[in-house]
Order: sequence, then structure tokens, then C-alpha cells
Amino acid sequence: MNKRSVIIDCDPGIDDAMALLAAFRAPELDIKAITPVAGNVPLVHTAPNALKILALGGREDIPVYPGADRPLTGQAREASEVHGADGLMGWPMPEPRSVLRDEKAWDVIWREAKALGGELELIATGPLTNLAIALAKYPDLPKYIKKLTVMGGGACFGNATPAAEFNIYADPEAAEMVFRSGMPTALCGLDVCHRAHLTENEVEELEGFGTVQAAFCAALSRQELSWAVPYGTPGAPMHDPCAMLYAIAPTLFTAVHCWVGVERAGVHTRGKTVTDAFSDAKRPPNVDLVLDVDRPRFVRRLLALLREYGG
Ligand code: BDR
Ligand code: CA
Repeated sequence: MNKRSVIIDCDPGIDDAMALLAAFRAPELDIKAITPVAGNVPLVHTAPNALKILALGGREDIPVYPGADRPLTGQAREASEVHGADGLMGWPMPEPRSVLRDEKAWDVIWREAKALGGELELIATGPLTNLAIALAKYPDLPKYIKKLTVMGGGACFGNATPAAEFNIYADPEAAEMVFRSGMPTALCGLDVCHRAHLTENEVEELEGFGTVQAAFCAALSRQELSWAVPYGTPGAPMHDPCAMLYAIAPTLFTAVHCWVGVERAGVHTRGKTVTDAFSDAKRPPNVDLVLDVDRPRFVRRLLALLREYGG
């Protein structure tokens, strides 16, 4: 199989961790780098967490280049009430043998994009600050990016506020820059991520693999489930694994090509992704907005990737 070259920009984060563990075993992906950003918890945690997840997944060959420790403007937001103070629920992770690299995330994105001559894909499962800085520093970056897949936003509802999803709310200015950049972009928002859920039975099946990786993923799925109860989702929403599976296997999903913008001024709506998906479709489309998933096939593929650790 021809592997696709990707950089994963993330803020681990429990569901980032599960997405990464799945990605490490996907034969479709050649992961060139991981570029952590501040998000679910500060960068002093998300960057070392990336190393710990690589150690857990047996992939310490992948280099980690930290990026931004704060959003482009305004105060940093975090979600430690969901992810724990360390971002990984205090789960006992293996001691990493690899170390953080000195080169900055945005410089690595540019370097790899240029070297691959337009073949690099980006997968972003955190606030979009690193990507926005890369765009500001290297204005011709978009022509070297084959595809960007983002977990963020939502057409219909929010989770950080009633209107806004966390990754976009954490840096709305960065998100707007990215969506306006011209990079071919797919957006997996809360709409599809809540459809891409794991039921309690499926979490038990995962736990039954009997590996340390599966035990971790089952525990973090149960943590996600407890936060999903107010939404009435019949299982644990797989936010970042959903975007990762879209990047790996887009044919499992349904998307509409439409305009998406980010509200940056609203009193109640700052950080909301405003979409043209359910309106008059008069604005020029800039995003593939992913709205639905073949859930049974999604679950089978996600569990098959995690089963690769044994069990
Ligand atoms: C997103 O925000 C974070 O809490 C998760 O890691 C995910 O990327 C869900 O809104
Ligand atoms: Ca995340």
C-alpha cells in the first residue's frame, strides 16, 4: 500500500491519545511528525504527553516538535475538567525514551510540506494555533498541503459553550485563518463526532483485548461517556478518533462541500463555526463539512486498529 505522508497536530488530551494510538497502526499513514499545541491542558503537558503516547504505542521513531503555548489572541482556554490536570486522566503512562525536538512546529510543517512537494497531509485535533502561525510565516504553505482534516466546530451545537466547540473556541482567530487559507480542508465537527460513538458494549469489547493500550482507551472512553450524558448521545463520542478515521478512511463518512466561517465577535457565539450547510448556500464553499458516518463500519475499523496491539 502507498502510504500517505501526514503530520498530526494535536493537544493530548485523552481522545487525542486514542486517535494517535489508532493512527500508529494504520497502514495508510506515514507519520512524519507530531506537533503538540496548548489546548486541553497547557503545552507543558501536551508536549510530554505526546512522547508518553508514542512510548505506549511503541512508535518512538516519530519525532515530536512542540508549537504554541497560547492562542493568537486572548486568554488560554483549557478542558482539564474532562482530561485531568495532566491531560491523560493521571493514567500511569510509560516513561518515554525519546525527547522533544527544538525545531518549532510551524517550521517543521513548512519544511516537510516543501520537501514532499505538495503531498503532505495535515490532521489537526486541537486548537489551530500552530497551523495559523505556519500560514502567517509561510504564506505559500497552502499550495504544498494536499489535504487538512480538522476535528473542530459543529453545524448545530457546541460543547465549550452552547454555540462553540472547544478546539475552535480556544483560538477562533487561528481557525478563521485556516478556513480562509485555501488549503483543501475537511471539518469533522461535533455533529459527526457524536454519531461516531462507542456504546458501553463496544467499550467492553475493546477492554477485552487485554492489552495496556486497550485498557487505557477503554478508561478514556468511559470518561468521554460521562461528559456526553447531557447531549443524550447513546455512547462515548469519539471526537479526535472520528477525525483520524476520516483521514484514514474517508469513504466511511458523508460530507457536504460548503462555506464555513468562524464567529469572532459574538457575545454568546464567539468561536462558533457558522456553516452554509443548512441555509441558502450562496457563499463560496471552502470546506468539506463532514456530517455523517457509517457507524458500524467506523467502530469495526477503530477497534481493528486498536486490536493491532494484541489481544
Ligand atoms: C475536542 O476538544 C478536546 O476536548 C478534545 O480533545 C477534542 O479535540 C472536542 O471538542
Ligand atoms: Ca484534541
